[in-house]
Amino acid sequence: MVTIAVIGCGRIAKNAHFPALATLKNVKVKYACDLIIEKANKFKEKYPELIEQTITDYKVALEDSEVQGVLVLTPNYAHYTVTMDALKAGKHVLCEKPVTINYDLSVKMADEAKKQGKILSIGVCNRFNKSVEMIKDWIEQGKFGNIYHVYCSFRGFRNIPGLGGDFTTKSQSGGGVLIDWGVHFFDIILYVLGGAKIKNVTCDAYCELAKDMKSYKYKSMWAEDTSNIENGTNDVDDFISGYVRTDKASISFNGAWAQNINKPEMFIDFLGDKGGARLNYGGNFEFLDGSTLETEIPEFDIPNMWGCQDQAFIDSIETGVQSKNNIDSVLETMKLLDALYVSSDKKEEIKF
Ligand SMILES: NC(=O)c1ccc[n+]([C@@H]2O[C@H](COP(=O)([O-])OP(=O)(O)OC[C@H]3O[C@@H](n4cnc5c(N)ncnc54)[C@H](O)[C@@H]3O)[C@@H](O)[C@H]2O)c1
Repeated sequence: MVTIAVIGCGRIAKNAHFPALATLKNVKVKYACDLIIEKANKFKEKYPELIEQTITDYKVALEDSEVQGVLVLTPNYAHYTVTMDALKAGKHVLCEKPVTINYDLSVKMADEAKKQGKILSIGVCNRFNKSVEMIKDWIEQGKFGNIYHVYCSFRGFRNIPGLGGDFTTKSQSGGGVLIDWGVHFFDIILYVLGGAKIKNVTCDAYCELAKDMKSYKYKSMWAEDTSNIENGTNDVDDFISGYVRTDKASISFNGAWAQNINKPEMFIDFLGDKGGARLNYGGNFEFLDGSTLETEIPEFDIPNMWGCQDQAFIDSIETGVQSKNNIDSVLETMKLLDALYVSSDKKEEIKF
């Protein structure tokens, strides 16, 4: 049995991690922690077999020698501090995506994990998605031939989360749609291409549709509990577009938290000289074989990717072996996000 603490009991804890942890056989959550105790208490009521106690100060869990690992499910701005404290306290960590608000701090987290000899996994959960795993296998088997270009679209309609709150405040979130949604898309791409390294990037980011927060129109707003339209900040990208060259394929992309086109599109197109595939984000994929012009839509059971990810973290704690979402393998994604923002700010290409 592995003993862990869960720090941050918000949406991702509710929608993904607690349901996943409750299905695992070999894990005990000694502490569910949130600054707002009622939030942690709700989970204790729902999962009485899984959770032992609730706390507001995560340091209580870090001081407990029985706790082997922690899940860091706080907003982006707190990933760095909580993860560093946990590593220094000798705990293994699974920290939600993005690693933190920028690349430099992400590198420091990776260095600290190495120094302490601890596991640091990142919640790039799509690496545990069956479609993503299959595309990666098929690329390795040569079914796509040479993948020369990847296009991705992560465009919603009116989806700015928690307007005015930490999601739309760059100093707290690190950015907008790129770091929040784009992180998953770019992580998938660099990962399935076999750890592609970026060579140069160019990008334009826009904060257009809620420049005047009070007149922004939407039907529902996710993360509304963190919204602060009266007095908050919105200084992040709600639309972004760019071009990336890597040592493998080139990548073009568009992303929108909000746009005046009611056609949400969430997919990645992998263009190979032998075959191509459209990965529908979070779902299945369609593969076109260029020699037969036949389209194949593989059928398979889709295991819960968060369950697989959390299981992998628990396994890593038990075995000491890093999992496929280890921090070192996610740093290139963070480097790319940073470079795209810098390119947009400077209005010039960034080269490595
Ligand atoms: N993997 C995914 O697909 C996915 C999806 C959604 C969110 N996320 C990530 O998960 C993280 C949390 O997002 P969310 O939507 O759950 O946010 P949220 O605001 O709903 O929840 C965060 C919780 O952390 C608590 N908190 C903040 N600082 C704390 C501290 N120092 N100690 C204890 N608790 C603290 C807050 O009170 C809040 O309840 C973000 O980094 C986000 O990017 C990942």
